[in-house]
Amino acid sequence: MGDVLRSGVRLLTFLRFFREIRKDGPADLDWIQKQGLLAVKLTQIFALRPDMLSIEKCRQLQRMYRNAATIASEDVKRILKERAPESFHESIVWFDENPLAAASVGQVHRATLATGEEVVVKVVKADHKKRFQRDVKRMMRMMRIAIALSPKLRKVGNPIALLNHVQDYTTRELDLRNEIRGGSELKSIQENLAVDFPMKRLRFPKYYPEISNEHVLVSEFVEGKTLEECIGDDSLAWDYLIELFRIHGAYMFGVGTFHGDLHPGNCIVDGEGNFVFIDNGAICNAPKNVSLPLFKFFEGLSKNDLDSAFEALLGLADERPPEERLIRFKARMSEIYGGFGDKSVGEQSLTDLMMKTVRAAVEDAGADFGEEGFPIIRSLMYMDGLVIRTHPEVKLIAEMGPSLVEFRERLGLE
Ligand SMILES: Nc1ncnc2c1ncn2[C@@H]1O[C@H](COP(=O)(O)OP(=O)(O)O)[C@@H](O)[C@H]1O
Ligand SMILES: [Mg+2]
Repeated sequence: MGDVLRSGVRLLTFLRFFREIRKDGPADLDWIQKQGLLAVKLTQIFALRPDMLSIEKCRQLQRMYRNAATIASEDVKRILKERAPESFHESIVWFDENPLAAASVGQVHRATLATGEEVVVKVVKADHKKRFQRDVKRMMRMMRIAIALSPKLRKVGNPIALLNHVQDYTTRELDLRNEIRGGSELKSIQENLAVDFPMKRLRFPKYYPEISNEHVLVSEFVEGKTLEECIGDDSLAWDYLIELFRIHGAYMFGVGTFHGDLHPGNCIVDGEGNFVFIDNGAICNAPKNVSLPLFKFFEGLSKNDLDSAFEALLGLADERPPEERLIRFKARMSEIYGGFGDKSVGEQSLTDLMMKTVRAAVEDAGADFGEEGFPIIRSLMYMDGLVIRTHPEVKLIAEMGPSLVEFRERLGLE
């Protein structure tokens, strides 16, 4: 009896979750947060799906990218005692019990090593992994039943594949060793490009693999301020910021391997003015068949050559749409991009444009952004947010023009 009741409650929770996401009004984000990591991650995905939800709804759900920090803090000492490697305890001489920051999967503390080096220690919250994996398993089961009962659900962006995708990258994020791997992958790309495409302002923190493991990560304490903190005190000059876009853009469009979560809290500006990428666990790959059409799209926009920009997006579809749909697509895009060349990000947010563009491209041009396209879109939304908050007078895409030329010439695009 108890089991039946519990399954009943789970089913109701599952249904309520999707109702919160799909209903017209704002979703109850606090309730979603309480349902755990899986619910948070799925909400973050739906927030980027204007092809499935209204643009207003997406905007509201995007708050979940910032909200993710309110999980109650745990007994860090106990986690460290039970889970940190022996070598960790031998190396740490001072540990700050007050967290430096708390976020969705972990918590960060300052510490000092016996060698005198200043470090930060990131700890994954103890029960996350188990609960997350249990929740994924349950949701899979319910999805399968729901699909059996209502086959048309299968068409809603292939829910099982989506769930697999979330499971895959969240599981990677929950293993902190992936941060060391991700950091060194990005760093070796930088080194390989040192001649063709120097990124002199980019740096990565030093990691300490010998005293880290899946649950506990030790890295260099980077003295400086996160971009998020810089926004508050107006210290980000435009010339300086555009160098960050040049760097990140080169990874996204030129290399196709990039920091998958480069929001302003994940980049520190150090004392020498370098951009230090942190939280390097979520490396994303965009295959050329996704990144190249997007690159050409922005290239077209930067020259205010709208038709070639719209044509470029057709490269995301399996085949060229029939004439009638093509005309509808271009008419719709022309409407969305009316007056584009004259508008600053303050007048026309790139995020809104991107959401409308995704929607039109999927609906009218049969484009498929794939699971790989969305991390790029998300990155652009982060940048847009950063610019709106610091330099709303700028025409971002036009300003990116010289960098786009450089990507084409020096990163061997095409
Ligand atoms: N190496 C570091 N040096 C200084 N501050 C750091 C460092 N790593 C993290 N932080 C601070 O802690 C915050 C959260 O760290 P992050 O690695 O992004 O964890 P999370 O996965 O929880 O987002 C950062 O936004 C930054 O303020
Ligand atoms: Mg972070």
